Amino acid sequence: MTRTVPEREVTAAKLLDASVKHSFDPAVDVAWDEPWREDTFFLPERVSTLYGTEPWERMSRPHRIELTRCELANNLAFGIWVETVFMQMLARHSLRWNARSNHLRYALTELGDETRHSTMFSRMMDKLDRGPYAFNPIDKFATDLLRAFSTEPLAFVAVLFVEEIFDGLQRAGMRDESVQPLCRQIFRIHVVEEARHMRFARDELFRLIPRLPRIRREALGAAVAFGVGLVSRATRTPEMYAAAGLDVREATRAAARNPHATAVMQECVDRFLPLYTELGLVTPLSRRIWRAHGLVA
Ligand SMILES: [Fe+2]
Ligand SMILES: [Fe+2]
Repeated sequence: MTRTVPEREVTAAKLLDASVKHSFDPAVDVAWDEPWREDTFFLPERVSTLYGTEPWERMSRPHRIELTRCELANNLAFGIWVETVFMQMLARHSLRWNARSNHLRYALTELGDETRHSTMFSRMMDKLDRGPYAFNPIDKFATDLLRAFSTEPLAFVAVLFVEEIFDGLQRAGMRDESVQPLCRQIFRIHVVEEARHMRFARDELFRLIPRLPRIRREALGAAVAFGVGLVSRATRTPEMYAAAGLDVREATRAAARNPHATAVMQECVDRFLPLYTELGLVTPLSRRIWRAHGLVA
């Protein structure tokens, strides 16, 4: 917890500068009219929640491709859900920041990025002609509480780890030549712009968390561990399996127990665990919650 980060205004000025140089307008920067390629996946096969399971082994290649099409639509709808929650939290907290600061200007710029992302995700769902599928209502309620009552540290902690997980999945997708070029294009746009959001959240956490009493750090650690469970549940929506023509009970059970899916999630989680450990957010209690999700912290 001794890491020193630049002053708020310095971080924000750098990010504002980077935003001018590397921003996209998905309305014109995505080749929306390009037709889908035949016999091509929509997500890397390995990222499919059923990859390597019994139902997967029985599926034909076109059926597997169809499943990744539904899974991408589901993930994009989840992206819209969490980004809209983030936007509300960021808008709410930024109201307290100095109106002439780089910090506020960057937060507003990030809000602009996220509105473009969610618009892009929504348009992509139209292009896929799949979804949305109903998410778990209890998880929906948990994020309703988050957007209404989150503190600044909780908002940044939540934003950072979800962005890290998506970054991991999208980096895998954008490099994979077996994936539709159009999908790879939107992953790339998102990865470039999210790198700034992660920097903003990361630097801010190193300013905020060390000042918190231990009990609040413990609570944040537990919230992160719970949040990772929420993210992984959101990737295996029952309606999505039904839409893909699978036996819902069998598919949801196989996905929940799929060691390949756990390994993919663990790889994503490993990207931010060292940082969260440094911040004191990995505690004995949170470790127990991680283990319940089959993950090692
Ligand atoms: Fe985004
Ligand atoms: Fe973001």
